[in-house]
Amino acid sequence: MKSYNIAVIPGDGTGPEVIREGMKVLDAVSARLGIKYNFKYHDFGGARYLRTGEVLPDGAIGELKKYDAIYLGAIGHPDVKPGILEKGILLRLRFELDQYINLRPVTLYPGVECPLKNKNPEDIDFVVVRENTEGLYAGAGGVLKKGTPDEVAVQESINTRKGVERCIRFAFEYCRKRDKRKKLTLCGKTNVLTFAFDLWERTFYEVAKEYPDIKVDYAHVDATTMWFVKNPEWFDVIVTDNMFGDIITDLGAMIQGGMGIAAGGNINPEGVSMFEPIGGSAPKYTGMNVVNPLAAICAAGMMLEQLGEDKAGKLIEKAVIEVTGKHLKSLAAGKMGYSTTEVGDLVVKFISELSVD
Ligand code: IPM
Ligand code: MN
Repeated sequence: MKSYNIAVIPGDGTGPEVIREGMKVLDAVSARLGIKYNFKYHDFGGARYLRTGEVLPDGAIGELKKYDAIYLGAIGHPDVKPGILEKGILLRLRFELDQYINLRPVTLYPGVECPLKNKNPEDIDFVVVRENTEGLYAGAGGVLKKGTPDEVAVQESINTRKGVERCIRFAFEYCRKRDKRKKLTLCGKTNVLTFAFDLWERTFYEVAKEYPDIKVDYAHVDATTMWFVKNPEWFDVIVTDNMFGDIITDLGAMIQGGMGIAAGGNINPEGVSMFEPIGGSAPKYTGMNVVNPLAAICAAGMMLEQLGEDKAGKLIEKAVIEVTGKHLKSLAAGKMGYSTTEVGDLVVKFISELSVD
């Protein structure tokens, strides 16, 4: 029997509530398909920081490198200044574990209310491949004369040939494996960011020569947001830099029904990857058993797929579709018609009933 070592970081706010449901679902998959896990909890997050003054303890990165995958709830605490936990935990893990891809599927599931008029599940089914370790997030730049009228703040976007190329290659491979419309769109800003996106564009068309089966396309980032709303059916796989990827994936989450369902993977294809619901810690709902655990459950499905357990990933997705299609009144916290734990129970029930293919 296959067995995986998984580091679990429930984190802050509603993170632990949704991770609990995700693990229930993972256990149900285990019973069904005979996959075994060894879970090990880590208490990184705002509460630990407030208690110890330490964001990530020494040795945490080395420890996390030993696992097959990381399952993360949410990082963010109302009593901690913005930036400390995001940079000190989430971004640090992405960078130091070299999780250079942020994979964000945007799928409208049956039964989910879409804010776009006349758009159906067949129209909204694409994946954003966001570069996850460079660009404006690299932290290059600095500040001079802080707090004076002459203050200067510089924040530079770092784009390396190696970083851009490995991200673009991943996107082409992913598009081929996904085998849907076989279309890859580069999302950039070549008309203004003429250094950074020139590198992206040249690399994109060079690598494209190795993938004659994939149609290629280009869209500026501003236009991309317009097409997400107007013609989302045009997209299959989109590749973009870190900052643009951050922005367009929040819009993507909204058109697929909201943060309650949006999951993401921070992927190092050669190392340890980390999977998370992208909605954040939602402090105002903490402990109320009302938030939607489907995003965390979908993240667990992505984790199994990344581990090579495609059947298990598909089974989770099928179960989620049963729940959105036949049960939930809404995906929004407090409006589902079910509690957080009840939604987890429903997914578990379908996992035990549905056929595995
Ligand atoms: C995301 C989040 C993070 C990001 C924040 C919390 C640092 O918005 O995963 O998209 O900007 O990458
Ligand atoms: Mn974001």
